[in-house]
Amino acid sequence: MRTPTPSVFIRGLGAYKPSRRLTNEDLSKIVETNDEWIRTRSGISERRVAAPDETPDVLGAKAAAAAIENARISPQDIDLIIVATISNDTPVPSCACRIQTAVGLRPGIPAFDIVAACSGFIYLLQIANHMLRAGDYRNALIIAAERLTGVTDWTDRSTCVLFGDGAGAAVVSRCDVPYVGILGNVLGADGAKGDLLSVKPRDVPAPPPPPGLTVGANIVRMTGKEVFKNAVRVMSQACRGVLEKCGATAGDVSLIIPHQANMRIIDAIAGELEQPLEKFKINLDRFGNTSAASIPLALEEAWTEGRIRPGDLVLLVAFGGGFTWGATLIRWWQPEDAANVAQ
Ligand SMILES: CC(C)(COP(=O)(O)OP(=O)(O)OC[C@H]1O[C@@H](n2cnc3c(N)ncnc32)[C@H](O)[C@@H]1OP(=O)(O)O)[C@@H](O)C(=O)NCCC(=O)NCCS
Repeated sequence: MRTPTPSVFIRGLGAYKPSRRLTNEDLSKIVETNDEWIRTRSGISERRVAAPDETPDVLGAKAAAAAIENARISPQDIDLIIVATISNDTPVPSCACRIQTAVGLRPGIPAFDIVAACSGFIYLLQIANHMLRAGDYRNALIIAAERLTGVTDWTDRSTCVLFGDGAGAAVVSRCDVPYVGILGNVLGADGAKGDLLSVKPRDVPAPPPPPGLTVGANIVRMTGKEVFKNAVRVMSQACRGVLEKCGATAGDVSLIIPHQANMRIIDAIAGELEQPLEKFKINLDRFGNTSAASIPLALEEAWTEGRIRPGDLVLLVAFGGGFTWGATLIRWWQPEDAANVAQ
């Protein structure tokens, strides 16, 4: 593996899942669809819906507080905060600035949002990795928070069955132990394909939302089949790219956490990488596609379930609107001895 010290590692993870479940059966009362179609075409059975006051910054603050607690540091120790979201309803102040205050982080630390759609968490990891390695920061709080039900077109059965709400967060820290944490990263984008999957203002005023759901100024539009084909090809390439960069093989990896968009996409990637499906963390059946939040939600769940052991190689891979994509290889490590961690 090629990685100079300092290393940058995930010190704590947190997640927030809104309590309200929207089942396929519920959706069949909103659009002409059925549980069997949704499950066989996407693998999704239900998704979560945020409460009216749970805007992305509120979801993100809950995940962030959990990540800080699990990292066993004080909010005062965080010196950088970055958020990925495509569903924030107020561009300014940013989600990151709102969360800075909500979680009680130090005033004065830098805070900003990024837009990289479903690849947002991989972009966050790479940005934090470089900012921490450069030496100016010690502990970054990265958060992916999405309220996709607020940008859903409830009249479009081909998209409204796919998305859900949630937030995931990580505290990412610098340490002096070599070859641990983030070993390598690949990122990419292709703006020429942007119109195949977008979140844009509506062409016509929205009809009233179904009871208990919301409609926003923007909606998701997607050419599903094209997105599907690109997702399989590009995510497989990104996995191979980061593995090659780090001198590892797919066989060396203990756990693969793919973006949770469609079970058939994950099946196809498993085939491309010639790896058993058991190596993949899958929770899209219960949460649907939560865009940037999908990978940290799945990562936090895998960690809580005890599926990640010290020393394991964990591969994260995402693809999303833009198009954007990315993959990260992590050697899982957490400090047993606080003296190892750069203060
Ligand atoms: C959206 C997706 C599940 C659709 O699956 P698909 O197999 O491509 O289905 P199609 O769009 O070709 O539709 C097949 C048929 O099902 C119908 N259909 C679409 N949505 C439906 C629904 N919710 N319920 C019932 N029927 C539906 C279509 O109208 C079409 O009917 P027709 O053959 O009579 O025209 C799939 O394309 C997909 O997952 N794409 C990628 C999504 C993704 O990864 N997005 C995020 C990337 S970050």
